[in-house]
Amino acid sequence: MTRPSHALIDLDALQANYRLAHSLSVRHSSSAQTLAVVKANAYGHGAIQTAMALEPLAPALAAACCDEALELRSAGIAKPIVLLEGIFSADEVALCAQHHFWPMVENSRQIDAIVNAAIPAPINVWLKVDTGMHRLGMQPQDFPSQYQRLKTSANVIGDIVVATHFASADELDNPFTRTQIERLRSLTGDGQIPLSMANSPALLGWEDARADWNRPGFMLYGSSPFSAPHPLADQLQPVMSFNTRVMSVRHIAAGEAVGYGETWRAQRPSTIATIPVGYGDGYPRNAPSGTPLLVNGMRATLAGRVSMDLITTDVTDLPSVQAGDEVELWGKNLLVNEVASWANTSPYELLTRIPGRLRRIYSGQ
Ligand SMILES: Cc1ncc(COP(=O)(O)O)c(C=O)c1O
Repeated sequence: MTRPSHALIDLDALQANYRLAHSLSVRHSSSAQTLAVVKANAYGHGAIQTAMALEPLAPALAAACCDEALELRSAGIAKPIVLLEGIFSADEVALCAQHHFWPMVENSRQIDAIVNAAIPAPINVWLKVDTGMHRLGMQPQDFPSQYQRLKTSANVIGDIVVATHFASADELDNPFTRTQIERLRSLTGDGQIPLSMANSPALLGWEDARADWNRPGFMLYGSSPFSAPHPLADQLQPVMSFNTRVMSVRHIAAGEAVGYGETWRAQRPSTIATIPVGYGDGYPRNAPSGTPLLVNGMRATLAGRVSMDLITTDVTDLPSVQAGDEVELWGKNLLVNEVASWANTSPYELLTRIPGRLRRIYSGQ
C-alpha cells in the first residue's frame, strides 16, 4: 500500500465553477468572454489536467508566462493563452506568434520588443494599465501613445484588449475598486476599446467591473475570495479535497507533551492520532494547535507542531479512532478558507503551494 495522502481534484466541480463565472460575465453583455486562469500549476490543482477540463468551455486560458504556456502546449492544449506577465525577453515574441500566446504587456520595453520583432505572423496583444495597484501596468499618461504604437504596428493583429488589476476587490465596502474602474473607463473613452478588469472577487462582487473579457482564477477552484458569506461565492464547489488516513494511534497520560518542542501538553488522558501529512505536503507549518481537521467526518484538532511529513491530532473526544480511518485536511466538508484563517494565511497560498510530492487524483468529466 502506498502513502495514502493525496489531493482529490473534482473536475466536474471545476467545470461547474467555470460555468458560474461565465454566467456572471454574460450579465455584462451576451458577448462577454471568460478566461480561465490556470497559472501557478492551476493554483496547485495541476495545470495540464485542469486546462484540459476547462478548454472545452473557455475561449482562452491564462498563464503567468511563456514557460507555463509552453507546458500547456506540450500537453496538447490548443486554445489561445493570455500571458498575464507578458514577455520577459524579445525572443519570446516569436514564441507568441508561433504558439498563439497573447501577451499582456505593461511596460515600454515589452512594447518595443513586439513592434521591433521580425515574426512570421502578427500577434494579439493585451495592454495593462496601472489604475492604482502600482504593481504592473502602463502609467495612465503613457497609455495613449503606447496604445497607438501597438495599434499601428504590423506585428499586432485584432483588437487590443485594455486591462487593469484590482488591489482590493475582495473588500466589498472599499470604494477603491470603483475608483480603479472609473480611471480605466475614463482613459479608454467611449466603449469602443475592449476592456478586461475582473478577477474572481470583482466578477462576483462588483457588477461594474464585469467587462468584455473577465479573468477569474481562484473562484474556478471553488473557494470564496471573501471573508464573509456571499450569495454567489457560496455557490462555488470546492475542487480540491486534501485527504489521507490515520497512520498511528496512541494514548498518553495527562501532562505528557506531543511533537517537536513539546508545544502541546495533554490536560487530561488523551488519544493522539498521527496523520501522514506535513509541511512537505503543503500543510501549513504555522497552523497552530487547535486547527480543525476531519477524522471519519468528525472534527478533531491539531495537537503540537506540524512536522515535514506528519501532524499529530487530538482525537480524545472522537469514538474509537483507528489506523486507516479517513482524514480530510480541507475540502468539501472543511473549507480551505477556515484552515487558512487558522494558519493566518490566504487560501490562495494554501492551494497554490501544494507541492509535486502530493499525489493528485482526478475525478469527474
Ligand atoms: C492579472 C491577473 N488577472 C487575473 C487574476 C486572477 O485573480 P483571481 O485568482 O483572484 O481570480 C490574477 C491573479 O493573481 C492576475 O494577476
